[in-house]
Amino acid sequence: MQRLVRPARKLRGTIALPGDKSISHRAAIFNAISGGEAVVQGFQRSADCLATLRCLRSLGVHWRWLDETTLSIRGRGRYGLSESDRVLDCRNSGTSIRLLAGLLAPQPFFSVLTGDRSLLSRPMARVIQPLRLMDADISGRQGDTRAPLAINGRPLKGIRNRSPVASAQVKSALTLAALYAHGETVIEEPAVSRDHTERMLQAMGADLDFGDGQVRVRPLTRDLQPLSLRVPGDISAAAAWLVLAACHPDADLRIQGVGVNPTRSGVLDALRLMGADITLEEQRTWGPEPVADISVRSSRLRGAVIEGDLVPRAIDELPLIALAACFASGETVIRDAAELRVKESDRISSTARELRRLGADIEEFPDGLRIRPVRRLQGAAVSTHGDHRLAIMLALAGVLASGETVIRNAGVVAVSYPWFWRDLDLLSGRRAAAAKG
Ligand code: S3P
Repeated sequence: MQRLVRPARKLRGTIALPGDKSISHRAAIFNAISGGEAVVQGFQRSADCLATLRCLRSLGVHWRWLDETTLSIRGRGRYGLSESDRVLDCRNSGTSIRLLAGLLAPQPFFSVLTGDRSLLSRPMARVIQPLRLMDADISGRQGDTRAPLAINGRPLKGIRNRSPVASAQVKSALTLAALYAHGETVIEEPAVSRDHTERMLQAMGADLDFGDGQVRVRPLTRDLQPLSLRVPGDISAAAAWLVLAACHPDADLRIQGVGVNPTRSGVLDALRLMGADITLEEQRTWGPEPVADISVRSSRLRGAVIEGDLVPRAIDELPLIALAACFASGETVIRDAAELRVKESDRISSTARELRRLGADIEEFPDGLRIRPVRRLQGAAVSTHGDHRLAIMLALAGVLASGETVIRNAGVVAVSYPWFWRDLDLLSGRRAAAAKG
């Protein structure tokens, strides 16, 4: 599917987002091993989260849709999963494969996890190695560095592990394995990554403490309590509208119910550092997660240095920040972000390459980007590299550019934001109906 994007004269409206992707995956997986039934409202019904749900169904878990985005899921208890008679296909989803690897390592049966071409090229040693230290029998292609992963489930022991990368997927895989291990597990990370797993498992009664880059997990002695919750709006989806509005000369948008967990909301800090006119209102909590409504207006942006601890808190939003930097005064440098090279695409090179086609002045480093402002982009044909975050960033670039931009393989937005194109049309006044919400 190809999409043609044109500039928008003005951007107005109120928008409700898809539920957070990370929280949706976790709500499904953790409730699947709980001791009862849960109802999850605002579940992100995207390709990635559906991959998790299909894997769970193959493992014997019953779930059904109560409406478009409300999921009912029946927990099987901590020992209730059953061996799948097929390979578990995680498609494009790193969160599915890494979290399920941790969950399946201690189950008393055999599992194979696989995915699409992008997922098969992503690093898996980061979960295989520490799980093996816990005594897991897990192996993978290319010398145990890539999926497919084969797991012969067996009893595990608790360990103390210091991960070389700040990765919530690794931390969550080890946390899940630790729930079934013999003895305590301590997981340390070099910088704090998103803590949705810790918050949710604690709310479900797991014996776990966390803070200061460390998680301590004691094995389950009884089933987790089911957790019904309303999933906050995905801040990664919100970031698209924040960047678009901040860079556009005539914009005023309000985004409702956005998850603003501080381990995840680095994009707000980065955009504020760049001078974006962003206001948080109605701060509240939905289950274990903080939520706010966010207003954003056309802004005079300035360049900034994005580095250090801010990077893991804004990791998925860095391509959007690179786009914003094209419209700032002064240069922006993003560094300490080598992890971007092993996402759904190599996001350092794909961001640089595609923004350059639109006239951006952007230079690649091994661990980041330098962007010099050009203030004006020009429409061109661009490629998404099969990466949902690139597709969304490039669509916004097209709205901000002069002329027409053609986005090839535009359907890939469904990986995290199935109704993105509709929302873009609504906010830019190309559809008659009022924006959702
Ligand atoms: C995620 C963690 C991050 C992020 C990904 C989702 C999660 O990956 O990039 O989109 O749900 O735990 P890493 O944990 O690999 O940094």
